Amino acid sequence: MAGIAFYALTLISMKLSSKFVLRLGGSILASPINAQLIRKYADIIKVQVSRKNAVGVVVGGGSMAREYIRAATELELADSRKDALAIKVSRINAQLFNDALGGRLGVSLSIRSALKSISQQGFAVMGGLRPGMTTDYVALLLAKSMEADMLLKATDQEGIYDSDPRKNPSAHLIKKLSYKELESVVGTGLHEPGIHSILDPLTVRGLSGTGLKVIVFNGSVPDNLARAISGEAVGTLVTP
Ligand code: UTP
Repeated sequence: MAGIAFYALTLISMKLSSKFVLRLGGSILASPINAQLIRKYADIIKVQVSRKNAVGVVVGGGSMAREYIRAATELELADSRKDALAIKVSRINAQLFNDALGGRLGVSLSIRSALKSISQQGFAVMGGLRPGMTTDYVALLLAKSMEADMLLKATDQEGIYDSDPRKNPSAHLIKKLSYKELESVVGTGLHEPGIHSILDPLTVRGLSGTGLKVIVFNGSVPDNLARAISGEAVGTLVTP
């Protein structure tokens, strides 16, 4: 059976214009489920695929995942069970997005199957992968495996701020920063189920050495995605 390296090589040998991963926040797509927004994102992705761009999409769990985590906490379940529940929710959200895209293949449950899906239909949709991480990290793993140029995160903020804008009304939006600077913004926290961070700290640490361009933007305006892909300045740009 062909492995990750085989499909990664297949992607490299295909005449692709560019490769990117879109991390779609459950907070914008599924809190509550927003069918109109899903349709708009699906339309943009279809255009990108028709232009021979390879696209990975990773959908988060949103408020429903956090409800399950809350209930599991009340029931005193282990963190790994909370993560497992949230992963299932993210995969349901991913399924809905994949169906809206008209995906012939199902939601990818591994990086290997995502690479296979991209090599066969130009895109792959994933939710969570395994306990102990977030969908930010899944997006990073996928971006690294497909040797993507860009990781785009559609979130419920305008971009990355110097402090949490939900807690500090005078927080400033940062237009551009380096991986190292981002590390000091998000801190060095360890994984916890349902963690709230503009980009989770594990993912930020994992950026080192990748050369990936990361753009974090307001996901409630889908047009921001098309603008970011075309090179316009949108939200926050993170570079090595
Ligand atoms: P995320 O926090 O990654 O998605 O997943 P989200 O809800 O879309 O995030 P925001 O709000 O838009 O930023 C929710 C939770 O699912 C579990 C973790 O507990 C995570 O906090 N998860 C997700 C995993 O355990 N493993 C995965 O691979 C993905």
